[in-house]
Amino acid sequence: MMKRTGVSRMAISKQVRRLRDLGYGIEASPRLGYRLTRRTHLPVADEILPALKTRIVGRSYTYLDSTDSTNSFVRDRINDLAEGTTVVADSQTAGRGRLQRQWFSPPGVNLYMSILLKPAVPPMLAPQLSLVAGAALLKAFHAHGLDDAVLKWPNDIVYKGRKLAGVLCEMEAETDVIHAVIIGIGVNVNIVGFPSELKKIATSIRRELGNPVSRPAIAREILNRLDHEYALWQDSGLRNIVPFINGHSQLSGQQIKVVLPRTTLHGTAQHINESGHLLMRKEDGSDIEISSGEVCLCRNENRTPGRNE
Ligand code: BTN
Repeated sequence: MMKRTGVSRMAISKQVRRLRDLGYGIEASPRLGYRLTRRTHLPVADEILPALKTRIVGRSYTYLDSTDSTNSFVRDRINDLAEGTTVVADSQTAGRGRLQRQWFSPPGVNLYMSILLKPAVPPMLAPQLSLVAGAALLKAFHAHGLDDAVLKWPNDIVYKGRKLAGVLCEMEAETDVIHAVIIGIGVNVNIVGFPSELKKIATSIRRELGNPVSRPAIAREILNRLDHEYALWQDSGLRNIVPFINGHSQLSGQQIKVVLPRTTLHGTAQHINESGHLLMRKEDGSDIEISSGEVCLCRNENRTPGRNE
């Protein structure tokens, strides 16, 4: 083998040690060589890149054992990183959610990933990327048997009323130019022991399907689908994305409360339009377009907002 590949015995055993550290099972037999006996459950590059059919997403891929926040890791290096750069961590020490919340990010169980995009559109269109990511997540979850996964506008993926995943889109821009958008995605994959404040409001793929699932498999599915939805969006905006989202929207037809910085509105959620805004019918029968804000379903009013929910 050494002769054939021109790689030294020492270099091979160094790589074997590296792979074993990543969780691969590798058996060594004298004179025969090495045999792979177990793949790793970690979303490392070796498990992701060979299966990516993407144009942009994942073009560069970094796996970290731990970081404060994958979004912050990317943000600190924006100018040095190419569009599509994807950073995935096994755990985060300061995972962030929307509205300054924390994102519960223990090691060994979930997916925490950030994808750097550099779209050539005006900054006001950047929030649409939350929905682009939402469509990719929905399709990935449906493909893994979670048919009832729905989107809670603008950025939550919910399964039977509990939060399964969230998207945190952050932008670096000047008045009329986007430098970068970081799409941060957190997915509760195999976690079953949620902290008490999340128990009733969060769920995981494992909890819903009843068996552990492969994190690399979910990551591959999400990245491939995100690349596809991003291409669609670059081509025709949300026109070909919102019909799918509206077909899987948790809010449509529901009584909702929208908390805005200076006021709170009540009404019935309608559809999401091609700008990515939520239409709400007010009690006086008029429609209002909501471009951002915290939405609560009125039947869940007694739930306090918290992490991973
Ligand atoms: C939310 O629902 O509030 C958004 C949660 C987004 C969490 C992800 S995990 C990977 C990336 N890094 C972060 O610090 N946050 C996002």
